[in-house]
Amino acid sequence: MAGIVLPLTLLSFFAFGTNAAVGNESCSLADQRLQIGTFQFNSDCDAMWFCNSSQICDWKGCRRDDFPFGYDPDQALPEKCPDGQFCPDEEDACQSLLAVGSPCQLNRDDECEAPPNFKELADNSGMGLNVNGSVCLNNVCMWANVTLGLPCVIENTPYIVYTADGGEYIDIVSRGNCRTGLYCDASQKVCMQSKDLGVQCAADKECVSYNCLDTGVCGKSADKPNHVGRWVYVVCGIGIFGGIIVTVIAMFFFHRKQREVEREKRMQYWREQNAFRQNIMQMQETARHSLMSLPMNGGSQRSSIYNRDGINSEDSTLPMLQAGSKSSGLRHYVSEEQLGGGSDENMVMNQGEKGYNSRF
Ligand SMILES: *[C@@H]1O[C@H](CO)[C@@H](O)[C@H](O)[C@H]1NC(C)=O
Ligand SMILES: *[C@@H]1O[C@H](CO)[C@@H](O)[C@H](O)[C@H]1NC(C)=O
Ligand SMILES: *[C@@H]1O[C@H](CO)[C@@H](O)[C@H](O)[C@H]1NC(C)=O
Ligand SMILES: *[C@@H]1O[C@H](CO)[C@@H](O)[C@H](O)[C@H]1NC(C)=O
Repeated sequence: MAGIVLPLTLLSFFAFGTNAAVGNESCSLADQRLQIGTFQFNSDCDAMWFCNSSQICDWKGCRRDDFPFGYDPDQALPEKCPDGQFCPDEEDACQSLLAVGSPCQLNRDDECEAPPNFKELADNSGMGLNVNGSVCLNNVCMWANVTLGLPCVIENTPYIVYTADGGEYIDIVSRGNCRTGLYCDASQKVCMQSKDLGVQCAADKECVSYNCLDTGVCGKSADKPNHVGRWVYVVCGIGIFGGIIVTVIAMFFFHRKQREVEREKRMQYWREQNAFRQNIMQMQETARHSLMSLPMNGGSQRSSIYNRDGINSEDSTLPMLQAGSKSSGLRHYVSEEQLGGGSDENMVMNQGEKGYNSRF
């Protein structure tokens, strides 16, 4: 039970205990501080209010973010400060930029006035080394103008990094007032040249890429996209097209046997059909010859049969289909005819009659 109660107590402490006071409620200026580990500004008042000089939570007078935390979508936001002014951590009201040497808040380089040669000193690397050439170190406004080998000011801030599995470790961020392209060495306290890729390093700030690898050398910038070599694209392309071609060839050989079987079937069918056609033509021929050679008196009867058969023979499908179902008989007929050598006329006529008989 205690195991459940304790986290809930802690949770409510963090969620409601620290930022409890809303508008018109009392607060203590002494409670204003930077959170341990994150160095985030914190006061007794909730998101939309600050603790004013009478120690009562009042509406905030300025904002630093485009989309500040804790406001409803339809709620009017305090203004962002114009050029030449800044909004302090308390977000009570805009103030004029601070002259060099003035006290400033942690990491608030933007609170400090720019040097005359701000264009030359400004950091455009996106690493946040300075703002417009000025830097806030140890809560003093300075200019980032120290050149190579000259003594510099250094500020080390130990942030606590909280990991997803509940662990935590320290990440020290070290800043100095050297010009861009230089860094303030921790032991000698002088500005040194930033190191290129592959050079030995002890901290991120020593590298031009701002990324000192675990192996102790400067690696490429952490936000740099990964590029693969041209050969990878070539290998991928060859792999894809090679795979397609190999598959096609494999299928060709795989189906060859099946194709041969199909072709053989078709050839057989064609040969059969051709044989039937030859038979029918021969039958017609035989019938015609036999009718021509008959005497006239028997002609009427024969011709009527012939006509009936002739009509049937004109319709090419019917005899063929019938012949197909009796293929062995027709083959027999062909072989008999070929064998028959002697009385040609008689033999043929008999075969013709056989042919009719088998059909009716
Ligand atoms: C304080 O109370 C007055 C009157 O109710 C209200 O108009 C004002 O907005 C409140 N101030 C804050 C900071 O909530
Ligand atoms: C502090 O805030 C309260 C509530 O908005 C207001 O009544 C009071 O005048 C403020 N005090 C100062 C010094 O502005
Ligand atoms: C830098 O400082 C100069 C001189 O004060 C100012 O005119 C300019 O707007 C500043 N630029 C930025 C990006 O703050
Ligand atoms: C460098 O900046 C400091 C303030 O940080 C200033 O006092 C000093 O005059 C500057 N030096 C040069 C050469 O601009």
